[in-house]
Amino acid sequence: MSHKLSSTVTQVLNILNDGTSHSGIDIGNALGISRTAVWKVVKRLHKYNIDIQSKPQGYQLKEPLLLLDQKKIEPFLSDKKISLEIFESLESTSHYLKSKMPFKTQTICLSEYQSKGRGRLGRKWVSPFGRNIYCSFSGVFKKDIGEMSGLSLVVAILTANALEACNPKIKIQLKWPNDFYINNRKMGGILIELMGEAYGNCQAIIGIGLNVNMKDIELVDLDQPWISLEHVVQEKLDRNIIIGNILLTMLEGLEVFNHKGLEVFLAEWEKYDLLKNQKVSLDIGGSKVVGISRGIDHQGFLLVENAAGSIQKFSYGDTSLLKD
Ligand code: BTN
Repeated sequence: MSHKLSSTVTQVLNILNDGTSHSGIDIGNALGISRTAVWKVVKRLHKYNIDIQSKPQGYQLKEPLLLLDQKKIEPFLSDKKISLEIFESLESTSHYLKSKMPFKTQTICLSEYQSKGRGRLGRKWVSPFGRNIYCSFSGVFKKDIGEMSGLSLVVAILTANALEACNPKIKIQLKWPNDFYINNRKMGGILIELMGEAYGNCQAIIGIGLNVNMKDIELVDLDQPWISLEHVVQEKLDRNIIIGNILLTMLEGLEVFNHKGLEVFLAEWEKYDLLKNQKVSLDIGGSKVVGISRGIDHQGFLLVENAAGSIQKFSYGDTSLLKD
């Protein structure tokens, strides 16, 4: 089910954000809606596991939630022709954009919640309401699909640049091809879907998922160590500012990639590379390669040195850092 983020939901949560109890009648009066309409909003929010308690004095929100806000993000988008769509709930932001292809204008889609968030290699992406960034956007590149191998690395570099500029405590590591790590724990990832077009053009749906204000309890079924930005900076972050900065950096940076390719970003990758000169394991569709990572080549392929000292390169795969 897809729901656009409605101003009623936002306003109800804004009233409850002070953490005190508010009766349905008071909330209704403030917003010009009935008590039943307020109850319906609360019931809907309960479906996302939001902790709103119903007490005799009224409704009370356990922890404040700072929602996505079109007005806060739009000033970061210099090109006014870009369309920004914000949802309360979607199956997946990338799936939604796919249904809108071919794109007439550049579209950015954000959602507070994803019911079927997708990760790389068919994995699921845990997407609780109102805490993280789930963002997909369309891109059209004047490149043949074969020249697009560097795109996911460039998206990772640009996102890392934007995050580090948001707060000096944030220090990103990138795990090839495009996982965001902090202190050796996964903070986010990128999912890119490419569609070749006639005349050497290429369309992409670029999906970015970042753990921003995620609480421990929400990730119990995750199979690897994880971290969210809130853990690092020790305070709640306004996702609007973070996403605004990412989009600003991304739209400019992807223009550079469109004209100059991966080459001009290689030095930056080096700065963030989590795997360089480390012992790694690479899963390539079931078979495993173990060796020392020697960075990437000019196409963005991973270079792995085997025990005999020869270097192999890989265009895809799932990497993990091995302890000696
Ligand atoms: C990974 O496996 O590391 C990639 C995760 C990508 C998740 C993002 S969230 C926004 C977009 N919508 C999805 O369903 N997936 C991507």
